[in-house]
Amino acid sequence: FKKVAHKVPMLSLANAFSEEDLKNFEKKILNYLDKDSNFPIEYSAEPKIDGISASLNYKKGKFFKGLSRGDGKEGEDITMNLKTINDIPKTILKKDFPDEIDIRGEVFIQNTDFQKLKEKFANPRNAASGSLRQKNPEDTKKIPLKFIAYTFGFEKGMKLDFQNEFLKKLKEWGFKTNPLNKVITGTKNLMANYFEIEKKRDQLDFDIDGIVYKINDFKIQRRLGNVANAPRWA
Ligand code: IVH
Repeated sequence: FKKVAHKVPMLSLANAFSEEDLKNFEKKILNYLDKDSNFPIEYSAEPKIDGISASLNYKKGKFFKGLSRGDGKEGEDITMNLKTINDIPKTILKKDFPDEIDIRGEVFIQNTDFQKLKEKFANPRNAASGSLRQKNPEDTKKIPLKFIAYTFGFEKGMKLDFQNEFLKKLKEWGFKTNPLNKVITGTKNLMANYFEIEKKRDQLDFDIDGIVYKINDFKIQRRLGNVANAPRWA
């Protein structure tokens, strides 16, 4: 596949493995913002689907080009294969859809669909990755790939201030989003949500390998910016 540079890099995420790590994450944010410990920080808590990330470039409402993550700076042009996925809108006619935007999300296979493929692939993630790398899109088309959107890269003309507003807009624009996304304030409540999701994890039809916590306010996200390879705000 042809290599193409991402206009905005696709970053990694820092990890938290305990309540302590989460508290430190918030503490660093408050320090950076010069706020005291009772300043409420609102998060968008999103179950992290264990699939393959993709960046979908739309120009004037038309799906123009789709890239894999690659090394985060440069991805592979897998447009033709992504076009076979029903969950990916090909044309978006809504007036408030930005002139140009890279919509980012996860390509994955549901566990029930994987049952029919398990002779050929080790796990759903491998199956999704293998299917996206087929030379012939007709072969990709035979695999029931799904797409859930959760963030954006480059954009021109988007007038939104909060991640939860963005997630709501994604639905209006015709994308699927994770039904378990939630806005939560305070690390105690993040932990409660974590245990709730852990209880449901077995019943989900997709594999998750964590929860992504993002500062809900885009203004604060911009203030915090990134460290080397990951945002300070997630
Ligand atoms: S946001 C700059 N949101 O996690 C913020 N990533 O990035 C990073 N992932 O390989 C992206 N669910 O494929 C974001 N709700 C979610 C996500 C999510 C899964 C994956 C993404 C990437 C990895 C780290």
